[in-house]
Amino acid sequence: MSLKIVIIGGGSSYTPEILEGLIQRQSTFPVTEIVLVDVEAGKEKVDTICQLGKRMVEEAKVNIKLTWTLDRRSALQGADFVSTQIRVGGLNARAHDERIPLKHGLIGQETNGAGGIMKALRTIPVLMEVAKEMNELCPNAWMINFTNPAGMVTEALLNHSDHKKIIGVCNIPFNMRHSTAELLQVPPEQVLIQFIGLNHFVFGDKIFVGGEDRTEEVFQKLLQKEFDYSPANIMPLEWSETFMKSTKLLPNPYHQYYFQSETVLKKDLKAYEENGTRAEVVQELEESLFELYKQESLRNKPKELEQRGGAFYSQVACSLMDSIYNNKEDIQTVNTWNHGTIPDLPYDAVIEANCVITKNGPKPISIGGIPAPMRGMIQNMKAMEELVIKASISGDYQDAYNAFLVNPLIQDEKKAKKVLDELLEAHKAYLPQFMRV
Ligand code: G6P
Ligand code: MN
Repeated sequence: MSLKIVIIGGGSSYTPEILEGLIQRQSTFPVTEIVLVDVEAGKEKVDTICQLGKRMVEEAKVNIKLTWTLDRRSALQGADFVSTQIRVGGLNARAHDERIPLKHGLIGQETNGAGGIMKALRTIPVLMEVAKEMNELCPNAWMINFTNPAGMVTEALLNHSDHKKIIGVCNIPFNMRHSTAELLQVPPEQVLIQFIGLNHFVFGDKIFVGGEDRTEEVFQKLLQKEFDYSPANIMPLEWSETFMKSTKLLPNPYHQYYFQSETVLKKDLKAYEENGTRAEVVQELEESLFELYKQESLRNKPKELEQRGGAFYSQVACSLMDSIYNNKEDIQTVNTWNHGTIPDLPYDAVIEANCVITKNGPKPISIGGIPAPMRGMIQNMKAMEELVIKASISGDYQDAYNAFLVNPLIQDEKKAKKVLDELLEAHKAYLPQFMRV
């Protein structure tokens, strides 16, 4: 039997991770073919990754056919799973997303605030094309989307494309669960964090280990700084006792942009003026990673990859594909349709939730409504996301402006216009829908 995986954005420096994951899972998830797809600009990178991948396959003595192509349509034929990990406009576009808001005194971040909105506007139309092609060429294949902003992208595709086998993923819930397990010295499979919210805006409600409520203990240890679950791209900031005791919620690392915004802005402005924002750090990191990947002697995923914020994303992707393929019915945290799971959010909204993973996809588990302290915030974020999705399709200036206005990291009406105008200009090559209007 054949089992074919297509990786769109295969030239990403993250790819050796997912290749490693697929190689290691051969006994339960017997992949026979992997095709890496990229665009002209990524040709050299995808070739380097493919050569490294072949050495990894050889080293592991497994039987997987690995190739790369720029022809997405031919790659999609007969695919069983399609992982999407693209960056429209590359890291230069990310630098604009970070630097232009900062120039105006606003937080500039890849998936939050003005930068996150712009990334969605560039990305959604491209992935809509991919979904359309999947529906035609591999209608039974699942799309596992990592492309940020993963929640918005997943909602746009589920609600506006004909292909419905789409799941959005992120390493944040995975990291939170695994660090909690480490902290409590128990196997990660035993830890259940009840997540509630949206991608990069998800909270942990209660924490259970083997059915026992250990929330209090985890909060205590977090306050005593005994653990930290920040990925490499986010500065580890502490949460105060008052925040934890009042909200009774476990924040995710991205919440610092909203609830510790002054501190974050100060730090980011310093980077903006001095040694560069995250995009520029990642640009350098990528260069050295690719130097390493080119070395013939390298036959495994290098440790250096852990300097990227998305490290361990492959474990999320591979466990998900494995569970769908084997109808495992285990619990994983993914982005999928709400469909009544959280009654405080629209029925067709996409949420990040614990789901039972079946061969027919993820089935979200309801834990009831959103706790009062964060109900309004999450509803507002979802309304903002809805506006972004609308704008990404319509290419309408007013739709985009509305999204900027209600985003908690922008709000000021004059700044909203100034920053939006500047970003639209900087990204015009990647926003054909806005240029046509
Ligand atoms: C986190 C997020 C990912 C994001 C990554 C950025 O892990 O969950 O969605 O892509 O950080 O990392 P980078 O190394 O690109 O700054
Ligand atoms: Mn993420």
